[in-house]
Amino acid sequence: STDHIQVEGSSSLWRADCRAKGGSPGFRVAILGAAGGIGQPLSMLMKMNPFVSVLHLYDVVNAHGVTADISHMDTGAVVRGFLGQSQLEDALTGMDLVIIPAGVPRKPGMTRDDLFNINAGIVKTLCEGIAKCCPKAIVNVISNPVNSTVPIAAEVFKKAGIYDPKRLLGVTMLDVVRANTFVAEVLGLDPREVIVPVVGGHAGVTILPLLSQVKPPCSFTQEETEYLTSRIQNGGTEVVEAKAGAGSATLSMAYAAVKFADACLRGLRGDAGVVECAFVSSQALGLLSSQVTELPFFASRVRLGRNGVEEIYPLGPLNEYERVGLEKAKKELGGSIEKGVSFVRK
Ligand code: NAI
Repeated sequence: STDHIQVEGSSSLWRADCRAKGGSPGFRVAILGAAGGIGQPLSMLMKMNPFVSVLHLYDVVNAHGVTADISHMDTGAVVRGFLGQSQLEDALTGMDLVIIPAGVPRKPGMTRDDLFNINAGIVKTLCEGIAKCCPKAIVNVISNPVNSTVPIAAEVFKKAGIYDPKRLLGVTMLDVVRANTFVAEVLGLDPREVIVPVVGGHAGVTILPLLSQVKPPCSFTQEETEYLTSRIQNGGTEVVEAKAGAGSATLSMAYAAVKFADACLRGLRGDAGVVECAFVSSQALGLLSSQVTELPFFASRVRLGRNGVEEIYPLGPLNEYERVGLEKAKKELGGSIEKGVSFVRK
């Protein structure tokens, strides 16, 4: 059988290794922080993704345990584990897509910005590895605060001379997943039928659901609008409080991360019409995209293709409530972006 799976360090006897090296169809994906609360279910779901041929699981703890476990799943991807900084480069070499859920999560009473001091350094180090070993990979940043960690990644890539804004995406998909769910509840619809664009950023008031643009077309009372906006903006905190010190969203996040990674892979494969929301550079497409807002990064609906972000859609018509929300979002977002940029430039 060619279905043996190699755990890092096991014998080169396995034909699976030849299968992986032999350019079997599919993409090579690395998960950095794979042993964490998000990392584990994310690794499991990526092992189930038919577009993935090779899956590299990297963490500073327990990478081999998670790898051994997941490698027993009888799906196509060959799984390898990598433990600690000395194995980071091997984990990254040859990857098409790198997903980063490494870093500490929130506890009750914390904002995402409270995570900055620890997670900024983690993301910086990991992105230095990406710049060196797989500079052409698409990068999905999950580590919070996303509003700052994406600018950090961009600065690291600029320093290394390999920055391609089309290939760097902050993952805001969980905000969309939550918005779809909560809006469907209010409308009495199946969440799979609902699409809510969520723009801005990924923290508090920077999370801006565009309820006037929900599909299928519908309308909300002022009370519904306020309830939904607040619940979508505070969805993360709802989970942090329910977990009462045991972390933040992990399972819904893993689901959202895979939904987003799958869209990136379909784009890479050349599928048409792959559109999702993500936190991306406004320079990703030159002058055109800077029409979205004047900020250097902003979450919008983007079309994903062979090079990553192929198109950034304008915000579209906003109602008065959304225009006020946009101004608040931009104010906070500007500071968070600047904090990330100066962390690397200082
Ligand atoms: P966790 O603490 O359960 O797992 C984090 C993992 O990262 C651990 O296994 C840890 O060993 C690993 N890690 C730490 N330093 C590392 C390094 N230098 N290199 C590689 N791995 C390293 O945390 P959880 O719940 O998985 O959350 C991870 C991050 O995702 C947090 O920053 C959290 O705030 C963020 N998050 C983002 C969301 C989003 O919508 N973008 C939603 C939910 C969480």
